Amino acid sequence: MNLLGILILLKFIFVRSDDLTVKIEQGILQGHLLNTPSDKPFRAFQGVPYAQPPVGSLRFQSPKPPLSWEGIRDATEDGNVCFAITTDLPTESEDCLYLNVYTPILTNDNKTQLPVMLWIHGGGFTHGHSRYNSTGPDFLIEHDIVIVTLNYRLGPFGFLSTGDDVIPGNAGLKDQAAAIKWTFENIRAFGGDRAKITIAGQSAGSASIGFQLLHKNNEGYFRGAIMQSGSPLNMWSYMLGVDPKAYTIDLARQFNSSIPSNITSASLLNFLVSLDGKDIDIASTKTTIASAPLPVIESPVKDDSFITTSQYELLQTGNFIRVPLLIGTNSEEEIHQGGDLDNLAAMLKKYEDNPTNFIPDNFEVVDGANVTEVGKSIRDLYLEGVPDDERLGHMIRFLSHDRFTRAVIKHADLSVNYTKVFFYVFSYDGPLGNVNITVKGADKIDHGEESKYMWKKIGETYSNDDLSKFPVSDVLTLRRLNLMWTNFIKHLHPTPVRSELLQNLRWPLFESDEYRYMDIDDKLEIKNKPKCPYYDGADKIDHAEDTKYEWMHIGDTYSNNDLSKYPPSDGLTLHRLTLLWTNFVKYLNPTPDESSDLLQNLLWPLFTNDEYSYVDIGDDLVVKKKPKTPYYEAWRNFYENWAKKPFITF
Ligand SMILES: *[C@@H]1O[C@H](CO)[C@@H](O)[C@H](O)[C@H]1NC(C)=O
Ligand SMILES: *[C@@H]1O[C@H](CO)[C@@H](O)[C@H](O)[C@H]1NC(C)=O
Ligand SMILES: *[C@@H]1O[C@H](CO)[C@@H](O)[C@H](O)[C@H]1NC(C)=O
Ligand SMILES: *[C@@H]1O[C@H](CO)[C@@H](O)[C@H](O)[C@H]1NC(C)=O
Ligand SMILES: *[C@@H]1O[C@H](CO)[C@@H](O)[C@H](O)[C@H]1NC(C)=O
Ligand SMILES: *[C@@H]1O[C@H](CO)[C@@H](O)[C@H](O)[C@H]1NC(C)=O
Ligand SMILES: *[C@@H]1O[C@H](CO)[C@@H](O)[C@H](O)[C@H]1NC(C)=O
Repeated sequence: MNLLGILILLKFIFVRSDDLTVKIEQGILQGHLLNTPSDKPFRAFQGVPYAQPPVGSLRFQSPKPPLSWEGIRDATEDGNVCFAITTDLPTESEDCLYLNVYTPILTNDNKTQLPVMLWIHGGGFTHGHSRYNSTGPDFLIEHDIVIVTLNYRLGPFGFLSTGDDVIPGNAGLKDQAAAIKWTFENIRAFGGDRAKITIAGQSAGSASIGFQLLHKNNEGYFRGAIMQSGSPLNMWSYMLGVDPKAYTIDLARQFNSSIPSNITSASLLNFLVSLDGKDIDIASTKTTIASAPLPVIESPVKDDSFITTSQYELLQTGNFIRVPLLIGTNSEEEIHQGGDLDNLAAMLKKYEDNPTNFIPDNFEVVDGANVTEVGKSIRDLYLEGVPDDERLGHMIRFLSHDRFTRAVIKHADLSVNYTKVFFYVFSYDGPLGNVNITVKGADKIDHGEESKYMWKKIGETYSNDDLSKFPVSDVLTLRRLNLMWTNFIKHLHPTPVRSELLQNLRWPLFESDEYRYMDIDDKLEIKNKPKCPYYDGADKIDHAEDTKYEWMHIGDTYSNNDLSKYPPSDGLTLHRLTLLWTNFVKYLNPTPDESSDLLQNLLWPLFTNDEYSYVDIGDDLVVKKKPKTPYYEAWRNFYENWAKKPFITF
């Protein structure tokens, strides 16, 4: 036996076979030992049921709590994957509500409890799964966290709805919520700390995380969230412009073309429940309605409803679970369109011929506005004055923003009022990302590339298990990303201390006036205002109805030379401010007498030490005392009592 063989043997000796079984409420699980590419051992428990198989009368319904089993249940292989519309894997089944737990804790002595990441995969709510070969935890687990990955129902099984309480919809989101609850209740048995769970996902998985934040029953089950390239505000993440029952009828008609449009929901359910699951899976590829079944706003409200108010309204009013959020986007989510330039050129022509195509489907244009003009103003934002050889690149830019980026930035923007938000743009271009398409005028990093810097993937055309095959800078980026993400999971801050790997940077919050974010490229860099000038969170498109789905600032610069375009109160504030300032310049006093109506006959008092009086310049001018109380006073006490050498003296 060679030395390596002896070392491997020794490692197995240290893990007692007792420790490869874990007891949870439903019974005993038999796991197995795996090793990361750099030889760190971890325990894997795969194919663990977190709900009853959603078959028979449970089809399309909320998941039911898992059943117990006798004896020892094998958990050394992936569970079945869920039926998918766009793919057909050998282990697809309706019985697919399984999750995997990976833990670097090798014993059952409960001495250590580690922070936990629960991952929800993407795939447009129509495909995807969490098999080990696509979401191997190896890179993340090097950082000593416990990882949970899961399958949830997809396509019609997860998202069919009759628009009423017969098939309310969102079964797939309810599955995810059941897996979150399972994790909270069981993760201690695997060395996980249930007080430190972060939920995370990419694409539709990221939109799912956003939806889980809107589901108040989840409160208390996690303390952080990571959203990569998706939000419930994305047009592809909910049923938009399609009646969910019409889709359900369309699906049923694949079996019986005489089904009438006025069929009752109960008859539809009876009919669809009587069918074979595999046949529904096949029929789901043949429907004629141009939408997949997707999340819906449920009505009427029931005990197990998932979401009953619009996503936008819940976010805007702070009606969500306000945990710290790490959120961002890749630099060009639709760069893959550059893989078929003829198709892209045809699309560009179609949009230019009729500029109303540029108006997003979820964009409400105000009554009386000329939609051609609105379409043109979006077109001009992306294409006006653009050189011929960059027009296709700019069209890609429009598509990236329309389909992904604008909703993700908006999500962050709406969240900052209520919780801590860390925003990133992933711009690093390397073969590890596995997309090598360059189009002049566009950025480079495609949807999903960043996931390959997080998860070990072993496939027929791409594998990243042997990192020595990739450039050093790719591996550096992988290490940086995993460190920042696991820092967030452990400390709720991606850069809690300065670290050389992270260039000693401190990642600032994405606060509204600054919009600061981390650009993850060859170097890490703190930047301002992602995708400016296209997205300017403070401004709305001129013709948009109130604040619904606001998007961007039209025109690539700001100008205030025509004040008639602004509300009268803005003009009033401008006049007040300029009068106060010029009074000071002229008289060394901003309010030399009390007789100015414009200044509300106010007298601006001195900022003397005991009063700290000041003028608050809001809608009205108001004399107030002690700005930023109680924080400022607390700081003053802090310096007086604790600081050796106060650098501020009072
Ligand atoms: C560890 O915790 C689990 C569940 O929390 C419990 O069932 C088990 O008995 C504990 N083991 C020890 C050795 O304390
Ligand atoms: C995962 O990939 C490895 C290496 O190609 C292969 O041996 C194994 O069968 C795959 N596992 C699954 C479940 O596909
Ligand atoms: C098809 O549906 C129609 C209308 O509900 C019904 O009358 C007919 O019996 C169905 N056909 C079959 C083959 O089930
Ligand atoms: C559906 O419409 C048909 C004809 O329009 C009518 O005869 C039938 O009663 C209706 N069925 C229901 C359930 O409303
Ligand atoms: C809308 O604007 C276009 C030019 O962009 C013009 O040709 C058309 O007449 C306008 N329509 C209306 C109803 O004003
Ligand atoms: C955030 O709070 C500020 C100040 O209260 C408010 O003006 C702004 O409208 C809020 N933003 C959102 C999206 O609610
Ligand atoms: C990317 O494509 C360019 C040209 O299209 C080629 O030169 C380069 O080697 C490719 N890079 C990788 C990593 O495949």
